[in-house]
Amino acid sequence: MSESQKIDSLLREERRFPPSPEFQKNAIAGADLYEQAGADRLGFWATQSRELLHWHKPFTEVLDWSNPPFAKWFADGHLNVSYNCLDRHVLEGRGDRVALHFEGEPGDTRSLTYAELTAEVKKAANLLTSLGLGQGDRVIIYMPLIPEAIIAMLAVARLGAIHSVVFGGFSAESLRARIDDAQASMVITADGGHRKGSVFALKTAVDQALEDGATSVEKVLVVQRGGNDVDWVQGRDLWWHEEMAPMVADHEAKPFEAENPLFILYTSGTTGKPKGILHTSGGYLTQAAFTHKNVFDLHPETDVYWCTADIGWITGHSYVVYGPLANGATQVIYEGTPDTPHPGRWWEIIEKYKVTIFYTAPTAIRTFMKLGREIPQKFDLSSLRVLGTVGEPINPEAWIWYREVIGGNTTPIVDTWWQTETGAIMISALPGVTTTKPGSAQVPLPGVSIDVLTEDGQQVGPEGGGLLVITEPWPSMLRGIWGDDERFKETYWSMFGDRYFAGDGAHLDKDNDVWLLGRVDDVMNISGHRLSTMEIESALVAHPMTAEAAVVGASDDTTGQAVVAFVILKSRFVGTLSDEEVTAQLRDWVAQQIGAIAKPRTVFVVAELPKTRSGKIMRRLLRDIAEGREVGDTTTLTDTSVIRVISDGLK
Ligand code: WT7
Repeated sequence: MSESQKIDSLLREERRFPPSPEFQKNAIAGADLYEQAGADRLGFWATQSRELLHWHKPFTEVLDWSNPPFAKWFADGHLNVSYNCLDRHVLEGRGDRVALHFEGEPGDTRSLTYAELTAEVKKAANLLTSLGLGQGDRVIIYMPLIPEAIIAMLAVARLGAIHSVVFGGFSAESLRARIDDAQASMVITADGGHRKGSVFALKTAVDQALEDGATSVEKVLVVQRGGNDVDWVQGRDLWWHEEMAPMVADHEAKPFEAENPLFILYTSGTTGKPKGILHTSGGYLTQAAFTHKNVFDLHPETDVYWCTADIGWITGHSYVVYGPLANGATQVIYEGTPDTPHPGRWWEIIEKYKVTIFYTAPTAIRTFMKLGREIPQKFDLSSLRVLGTVGEPINPEAWIWYREVIGGNTTPIVDTWWQTETGAIMISALPGVTTTKPGSAQVPLPGVSIDVLTEDGQQVGPEGGGLLVITEPWPSMLRGIWGDDERFKETYWSMFGDRYFAGDGAHLDKDNDVWLLGRVDDVMNISGHRLSTMEIESALVAHPMTAEAAVVGASDDTTGQAVVAFVILKSRFVGTLSDEEVTAQLRDWVAQQIGAIAKPRTVFVVAELPKTRSGKIMRRLLRDIAEGREVGDTTTLTDTSVIRVISDGLK
């Protein structure tokens, strides 16, 4: 489908879901938020920050934008992020409230109250201090989704140090690149974790990453989880449980400046090298807490919240760790995959913990849709009262299915648009206020200013399509790319000056509601996770067999997009292996180089690639081929016969 066909079919979606009066009666957010923010945007954020957070030293300045694009929020205030997520809840009498209901994939469970979680984080902070960790030091966290992963993040934050969580599905190679870029002095990992009914190794990948490189690392702390065998480097490797045993649960959280870095999270860009997105403390926590409370209508005394994201992604940072814990929420965390040991596992967990707020990705919803409604219908999902989605556009059919089958035809759905870079939700309905439209992310949140522009910076206005920008600085915005100010300016700020270019195409409908149309750059979105075409191409050409490679994201019914690779083999390999063998080898290779999520769905072995006269690969044409379409405009192609050769060869 072409872009304009896609938007035409979306806009034919006429169903509307106004908030119910019952929901509105107890709703956290009202329309007044828009009025307050509209009247005084900075004053609005200052009020939110003061109400939602504890400041050891109150701020007097709100925004310093004197050196764009480097923003400072609440700069003269001091706070401790970990104290905000833990100690104050205990001190204010909420210590007995459950913070985490942990559900392991094998069926083991553990619940930690705010008092217990605080005690664990204090012990861990003492341990990290005893190992020499201090403000500004970098720690890599490479773990399954178990309570210790969250304890580690909060302990690092408590000391004013910087964590960089690397998703457990990434390879040793990817891990090493991140350790090196961050110059981390410590890695916190586990022996292994549980996934799809078996144990996957993590410590082994850390060993490999440290074997020939990553020399900055002095200590590796290992949590026992998988029970799998591990190699041990004396003096470097330490068991978490042995080191934690003698630690005392007494630790004072020192305040740090609002702009003290909190974490680096690597994400794919349009080059082969992932970028380390830098987030800081006061502004980030303000917007994470504000959005978590208002978008999900959080009533912390009664709600049980569950976000299915892994802590290796930004969603796990903002909506598993920092937002919910700052708000004193009770939440569920689940280690494993949705279909283990049976395809109803998620719904079983919702029934068991009486989950009230559920936040997941469209890919997961579409997968369940295919499996059929009989599976969720076996469970009691009546506790649910708010549903959210994130990561990619949700098609109206999946939205309606989500509401009907999971939400019992009553729950509001919030489709939340944001990015690793934005740190927190930017565009979303507010349940209790917004009349929702299936398929649209709808409106910027109070205090957030966006626009849709043509390439030369003109506003498209209602019923127009163009590029999504954010026109004013926001509290949880990225503060830069770790170690690369130039790339930061170039990537986000060179297109429209002082307006942030998000990299997404968007359409405004006649009511000015936003419909997201996907990335406009060479970034793919596979199951709600960002992957760079260039990064996979570099991995492919690093294989001895490959001469050239081009990668595109082709639309896929379940995963949104799927990785499709076109490769030219070096002449001495041509004809030595069948196409199936080449495909299998290259898929494994990419998994080894980057991680299983980057594996191409399809590899086409071709003799030539379509290029412009300046030598740029024409990905648009390859996408047409990958999606089985008539090939589009080829006028800028050097040699139009190439495309015929490719398409004919694939028939
Ligand atoms: C990209 C950011 C934000 C956490 C997960 C992904 C796409 C995200 C939506 C949505 C349409 C969406 C955009 C964005 N995206 N949410 N609700 N509707 N598209 O974080 O890896 O930083 O990716 O995900 O293309 O730019 P990320």
